[in-house]
Amino acid sequence: MKTFDLSTYLKKQQDLINSALDKWLPRPHGPSGPVVEAMRYSLMSGGKRIRPILLMAGAKAAGGDQKALLPAACALECIHTYSLIHDDLPAMDNDDLRRGRPTCHKVYGEAVAILAGDGLLTYAFELICNPELTQNISPPLLGEAIFLLARAVGVSGMVGGQTADILMEGRPVDAETLSFIHSHKTGALIQTSVEIGGLLGKANNEELYHLKRYGESLGLAFQIKDDLLDVEGDQEILGKPVGSDDRNLKATYPALFGLKETRKRARELLKQALSELELFDDSAEPLRSIARYIVERDR
Ligand code: IPE
Ligand code: IPE
Ligand code: MG
Ligand code: MG
Ligand code: MG
Repeated sequence: MKTFDLSTYLKKQQDLINSALDKWLPRPHGPSGPVVEAMRYSLMSGGKRIRPILLMAGAKAAGGDQKALLPAACALECIHTYSLIHDDLPAMDNDDLRRGRPTCHKVYGEAVAILAGDGLLTYAFELICNPELTQNISPPLLGEAIFLLARAVGVSGMVGGQTADILMEGRPVDAETLSFIHSHKTGALIQTSVEIGGLLGKANNEELYHLKRYGESLGLAFQIKDDLLDVEGDQEILGKPVGSDDRNLKATYPALFGLKETRKRARELLKQALSELELFDDSAEPLRSIARYIVERDR
């Protein structure tokens, strides 16, 4: 096999996702124009697009067609961006910088930012089951994917985790609660991105089981690395503030275990994630490379 070049791969996938998002998202028009402008402002501002990329990489590992899955991939990014807009609000983490720009509420005000988040969350479901875009996906598989997605981002997943994250600010947490917060607020959507990719890419049961376990370890590793970057990252590179967790007295891995132990935990999770891919051939190279990138990244 040719050596796999992650940065070329990421750039190509990001371009694909960015142009699909731009094409499919509504355009500002009429009295509701500002909310669409706010949705586009936050969405089209250079995120890493890791969740849609994971969906497509999961499909590739299973040998499935990736292009047909672009609407589902874009839906993940809409939901993720909604979660960032709401996460930055004064009532939540109260942050002013996101993806290298002032946060949505700083530009459009809180009411429009809340609505832009609502708009992106809802639009995600419109996209993933838009009949014009999804004719090539079997309806039962699509139905299952939509179920997995809704469960991952609702109270059983992201919303549940974000609730615990906020309510535990300034309170002592144990390792179990901390892992609950991280695997729900962030891990659930990441795990489900890989799983939906596998499912729609027609993975068999064994492959799907391991893709899911890969996503579980990777999702937790992702948030642990995010915690580390909040302590030792560079705001210019990150495009969001450092020290936000400290200021908000958040429950984080570095706060509970220290930096050294936290880095070790991230490495262990990476190892675990990679071991789940042993049954796959070269088609899982993107998933392997993305996993390494996630624990080594600087943004
Ligand atoms: C940040 O997510 C929020 C978390 C869930 C940790 P990303 O690090 O994927 O942010 P973008 O999309 O690249 O901006
Ligand atoms: C956010 O976690 C998780 C979600 C948005 C669901 P953080 O609050 O740590 O994310 P950042 O650091 O602001 O990106
Ligand atoms: Mg937060
Ligand atoms: Mg935050
Ligand atoms: Mg963070």
